[in-house]
Order: sequence, then C-alpha cells, then structure tokens
Amino acid sequence: MKLIAGNWKMNGLQASAAEADAVRVAPRPRGVELLLCPPATLLAAFAGRLAGSGIGLGGQDCHALASGAHTGDLSAEMLADAGASHVIVGHSERRMDHGETDAIVRAKVQAAWRAGLVAILCVGETLAQREAGQALAVVAAQLAGSVPPGANAARLVIAYEPVWAIGSGLTPTPEQIVEVHQAIAGQMRGLAGEPVRVLYGGSVKPGNAAELLALPGVDGALVGGASLKAGDFLAIAAAAQGQTP
Ligand code: PGA
Repeated sequence: MKLIAGNWKMNGLQASAAEADAVRVAPRPRGVELLLCPPATLLAAFAGRLAGSGIGLGGQDCHALASGAHTGDLSAEMLADAGASHVIVGHSERRMDHGETDAIVRAKVQAAWRAGLVAILCVGETLAQREAGQALAVVAAQLAGSVPPGANAARLVIAYEPVWAIGSGLTPTPEQIVEVHQAIAGQMRGLAGEPVRVLYGGSVKPGNAAELLALPGVDGALVGGASLKAGDFLAIAAAAQGQTP
C-alpha cells in the first residue's frame, strides 16, 4: 500500500489543527495509507482529532535516548506517549542544521524501534554530489551507515529526498528517480531480508504527484510544503489511489 506522509516541518499553530479535521472528514482514497507529521507542539491535538481515523501521526525527529538531561530534545518514547505511530529521522534539514551524522541517525532509528515507532529514514544527495555523479554512492553510504540490524518492512520506511529538490520546485527526471529507488530497494533487500517501502520526497505537489507515484519503485511520497493545506495533501493522496504498490 502506498504511504503519503505530510511533513509540516516548523509550520503550524494551534489553529492549524483544523487541517487535521479536514483530512479526517474527507473521503479517504482507497488503498492509500496517510500519515501527518506536525510539529511536536501539535502532536497531542492531532492525536485527539485523528483518534480512530486510521490516519497515522508522526514526529519529525527524536533523541537517541529515552530520557535525561537534554534540554529542548524529545525522546521517541515521548512522541509515542503523545500519540505518534511514526517518526521521521535523518531529514536533510536535521543533518544540515544540527550536524546529524549517519551514526547519530542510526541511533535515532534504534530509539524509534525501542519506543515501538515506525522510523521514516531520509537519505538523499546534494546538487554538488548529483553533478559529480555521486548520487548513488552517497545514498548507499547513508543507508549503510544509518540502517541498524533488525530492519524490516513493518518498522522501517526509507524516504529518498534529493536535497536540491526539497522546497525548490525542482524534481529529478523519472529516470533518475527510478535509478535511485531501484538501488535503494536492492540494498534494503540485503539489509532487511525483505522489501522495504521507499518514498520519494522533494517538491511533490498535486500537479506532479500522479506522475511521480506511478514510477516503478515509488511506494509513496514524503510531502513538505504541499502537505500544509488539507486540500493539496488529499489531492496527492488521491493521485496515489489505484496505483499498484
Ligand atoms: P517539499 O519538502 O515537499 O516542501 O519539497 C519535502 C521534505 O523535505 O520532506
């Protein structure tokens, strides 16, 4: 089943929780799994509004440890306690803004599993790496460094997000996306012993979602800017409906 995940990033106040209601009451596309990842300040409000809806709820990051003296951080256990089922880890904005290495991201995936959360692990190359012909090697190294032993399809999802496509309006060519997704799928079969879902992320919009989601090996989308409005998010989810997983 395709997964359409909305990553709200550092956007949304209490009033925005109404978007969760709009997603909840809209006709649900069949055969599509929905997930919303609002900022942590909205997790509890979203959990109340989405309870019983089947729509997943995710955090955007977690600390590796369960608790302790880490001012400003949140543990995976806290996210689960607030109602989350998933957590995004290793987003390129975390890697760049907070210096997160593959080793740190790996520990966060383990923390997610410890708390019973599904980890959505983000990988992707910069424009300079793409232009240097290193995209596949960069993504392979990120996976090798950040996927812990014990990975399986029930608790890990990979998101391929080329850094240069995030928030830029640019997307890779279909050939480029298929090439990277195939490489990730092959590596993950080796690491997990079974197929693991691979989402595409980076400037997914209602206007390009159908084309992107139809590409072989694209098991869903991680959507940033276009997930903030329920109508756009639902249009992307509708584009996933009826497409083979
Ligand atoms: P975007 O962000 O859809 O705004 O490009 C995607 C992401 O960073 O997850």
